[in-house]
Amino acid sequence: MSWLVREYQDDDMEAVVRLWDATSPHRYGSVFSLAECIGALRSGEPAVVAVSGGEILGAALAIVTGERAWIVRIAVAPEHRGEGLRAALLPALERLAVERGARRIGFVAPPEQDVAEDLEGAGFTMRPAMAFFEKVQAVGPGETALLEALGGRVLPSGLWDRISGMETEKTLIERRVVLPLAEPELAQAHGVMPPRAIVLFGPPGTGKTTFARGIASRLGWPFVEIFPSRLAADAGGLANALREVFAQIAEFERVLLFMDEVEEIAPRREGVPTSAVHGVTNELLKLIPAFRERDTRLLVAATNSVRSLDSAFLRPGRFDYLIPVGPPDASARRALWKRFVDVSGRSDVDLDALVGATDGFTPADIEYAARVAAQTAFEREVVHGHATRTPGASTDDYLAAQRQVRPTVTPAIRQEFLEDIAAFART
Ligand SMILES: Nc1ncnc2c1ncn2[C@@H]1O[C@H](COP(=O)(O)OP(=O)(O)O)[C@@H](O)[C@H]1O
Ligand SMILES: [Mg+2]
Repeated sequence: MSWLVREYQDDDMEAVVRLWDATSPHRYGSVFSLAECIGALRSGEPAVVAVSGGEILGAALAIVTGERAWIVRIAVAPEHRGEGLRAALLPALERLAVERGARRIGFVAPPEQDVAEDLEGAGFTMRPAMAFFEKVQAVGPGETALLEALGGRVLPSGLWDRISGMETEKTLIERRVVLPLAEPELAQAHGVMPPRAIVLFGPPGTGKTTFARGIASRLGWPFVEIFPSRLAADAGGLANALREVFAQIAEFERVLLFMDEVEEIAPRREGVPTSAVHGVTNELLKLIPAFRERDTRLLVAATNSVRSLDSAFLRPGRFDYLIPVGPPDASARRALWKRFVDVSGRSDVDLDALVGATDGFTPADIEYAARVAAQTAFEREVVHGHATRTPGASTDDYLAAQRQVRPTVTPAIRQEFLEDIAAFART
């Protein structure tokens, strides 16, 4: 087949973008996004195409700044690989870049794109010791003010790793939620649809809010929380306030929207169909599909009482997963206790005894008991003057403190939670 390489013209835009889109490396993604490439084409950066009978078989684009040029895309239609197109595009692109003042020309190749031979043929040298680092700002220009107005913020990185124990929940949420959103190209290549909305349910204090914040931190997405009680105070009513918040959220490129105590806004619709609550539930049911349209947004709804949610709200198509977040198991309780015990630096605390004594305790309960024990130890020294060689609470302090705490997860609540898992969990 005969083809020729010529300079890019404005008319080529549609065909070139189609080619790049179809050939974009999915596993690792590209350094330069398709949007950046389109921007560079529009602003007249050097680009060349390989054509045959009016059809575009290959296209390459560079960006020149001063003496430096970067090749940002080079693609050949799959059915024309091995015909030498890339080897012909490279020198043509190089010539254009040099005409604009470039002296050094670089290309960051995704590992799956075996361009090495062609690049070396064109006189490029591989720099194998280089590694590509990148940091994407969570909030784009112009989004900061809006984020502030909504009371949202960019959370520090590392919150996910600070979630102790809860391995079952962590693994599940990481695999179903975090990874598909963090690796969208790879997910798409496997036919996995990244989630747009999830429900976390479980007894109070088990870590639902903590997980929602952890997800945002892992993804580096801004975190915005909706407080139904605050929205209800809005002059226009709750339904109206919800609509407004969702409209504002739509402005963000990427965002995690957290809605706590969602059973308050979407309780089971019973009785008089005209009550105000019905209107709010209906509004939310209408807002979710629109929210789902973009793939860099996640709605996390949390509830202590999944059984009192409206059934339409929970139907597939609105929420991708309904994930139970249960009371911590022994290994999670151990990790939670260890975190508090480690703070005091004492090495003689019997963790196993604490773990055994706190079945049914939530992280919040453990946190409370640990605080009480620390306070006891502190007062013993400061108020009662008993100087201790090892500061910090002892095993007995912790056990005494724990006895003062009523575990949140009573046998009845645990039974209810197990029934809810059987009836509602979708993982
Ligand atoms: N896995 C965990 N590791 C450490 N601390 C946790 C964990 N889960 C919850 N906590 C702490 O327990 C408290 C209650 O957690 P939270 O996420 O608010 O529970 P929920 O939203 O389910 O009511 C918070 O202070 C949180 O920091
Ligand atoms: Mg909470």
